[in-house]
Amino acid sequence: MLLRDLDDLKAVLSSIRGSLVGVGMTAFSRIIPWDFVNNYRILCARATSDLPILEKVSDIWCLERETGERCSPPGFNSFSLLAHTASKDFLRRLQPPVILFLYQSYPELEVLARREGWMLLANEAALRVRVGDRRFFLNLIRKLGLPLIPGGLYRLEEFLERGYEYWATALGPHIVVQLADVTKGGGKGTFFVSSKDEYQGLKERLKKGYWRDMALEKVILSKKLNAVASSITLCITRHGVLMGPLQLQFIDMEPGPLERGVFCGHSWGGVKWPHFLEEEARAQALLIAQGLRQMGYKGLFGVDFLADLERQKIYPKEINPRLTGGLPMLSMLLKAEGKLPLEAFHLLEFMDITYEIELERLNEEYRIPPCGSHVIVHPLSAPLTLKGSTMRAGVYLERSKGEFDYKGVGWNYSHLQRPQEILLVDGPPEGWLGPLEIKDPLFRLCRILCADPGLGQDLGPSNRLRRAAKWIRRSVLKTSILPSL
Ligand SMILES: Nc1ncnc2c1ncn2[C@@H]1O[C@H](COP(=O)(O)OP(=O)(O)O)[C@@H](O)[C@H]1O
Ligand SMILES: [Mg+2]
Repeated sequence: MLLRDLDDLKAVLSSIRGSLVGVGMTAFSRIIPWDFVNNYRILCARATSDLPILEKVSDIWCLERETGERCSPPGFNSFSLLAHTASKDFLRRLQPPVILFLYQSYPELEVLARREGWMLLANEAALRVRVGDRRFFLNLIRKLGLPLIPGGLYRLEEFLERGYEYWATALGPHIVVQLADVTKGGGKGTFFVSSKDEYQGLKERLKKGYWRDMALEKVILSKKLNAVASSITLCITRHGVLMGPLQLQFIDMEPGPLERGVFCGHSWGGVKWPHFLEEEARAQALLIAQGLRQMGYKGLFGVDFLADLERQKIYPKEINPRLTGGLPMLSMLLKAEGKLPLEAFHLLEFMDITYEIELERLNEEYRIPPCGSHVIVHPLSAPLTLKGSTMRAGVYLERSKGEFDYKGVGWNYSHLQRPQEILLVDGPPEGWLGPLEIKDPLFRLCRILCADPGLGQDLGPSNRLRRAAKWIRRSVLKTSILPSL
């Protein structure tokens, strides 16, 4: 059957037998299939204040709510969630086969899934790890002949032995250091160094050979480009590669004292990308996708780019082989324009359901950028404690600078009625579970969705988005109980 719209999609997916369950840390992150999969359910870890609103459209089972205990953040992932006895019991009660739609797979999850008889809609962990490795990425870029950012991969010992001058002579005074072994992205393990002192400070921090409990072996040093972070979300299907629009990434809402390059959202429809640059990004993404396809990769993934607008040059930066940070907002934007969400094809591919598409027509639709933005709100410093009270998710309007009034229920981009409104969703964590000690400055407190591109100075988030993020931090967090380390 040819898929042209949501009704066609519903018809094709009505053939699913068993129980399709979206699995995520938060329910919002897996909400997209709610209106095209019958009896869609979500199994999530965190009790967030948006659950009652999301439950109006999807059944949600939440581990924190069931057990009354917090899922402690560091290292808690979908394997930990699914390995919990309460989660397994819940899934055992569903109509088999149990089919899980999740962020990404893990080796230990594959063992558990075999034992429990679950079907995982994700690339095998071994392939995902291989494809997501920065070393693999650099080799692929070389092999494909795509532009390489000046720099290279070095042993940690070499980085520790050499001085700032050595690297500055080769790469220029502004250097980016990335820890190749830190695979958890979003800016974790990225540092900017522009002086001897900064270099020395970083060396001190890394000399033990560990960062965020990860053993370090290799670092990537690169020339810091004067460039805009951007990305494309893609889906590899049996019919070819589907490609979303080139989207601007928001980076470093407030530059932190240690790591930099922290991903904190996206903007669509506000930047007029030079035609050449956009075409080049799409061509590069397609080549990378074809490389992954040959290795057996399918479904969703993302490619990050750095776009040097002045020199009109775009560099591929990394592959994110999983559901990407632009989702589910990108899909909400596409759906609002009557377009099919990319998650749909990921589900169809992994469930091996027969369908037809007009690939070119879809890609022509997807390349036109929608209009909107979202930002992820991080605490930015730690340790901190979450207040016991809860902040309502929903639509808000700025009453006066930095003060926002609740305007009503909402969780979807389409619930935003005016460009001035913001939508608070994907959190914040419920307060009734007692105090939450936040040890990670990059813990995700919630998201803000906005109907306009939300662009401010230097292509960063607008002042309104920044004020909204501050207001949320102020409202949900107690001030630091210990001095920040
Ligand atoms: N060579 C570079 N020049 C300028 N900015 C960089 C460079 N390398 C990394 N960055 C910044 O750091 C961010 C994170 O880098 P990236 O490789 O995408 O890692 P991750 O997203 O996994 O944290 C980029 O989006 C960009 O803002
Ligand atoms: Mg990135």
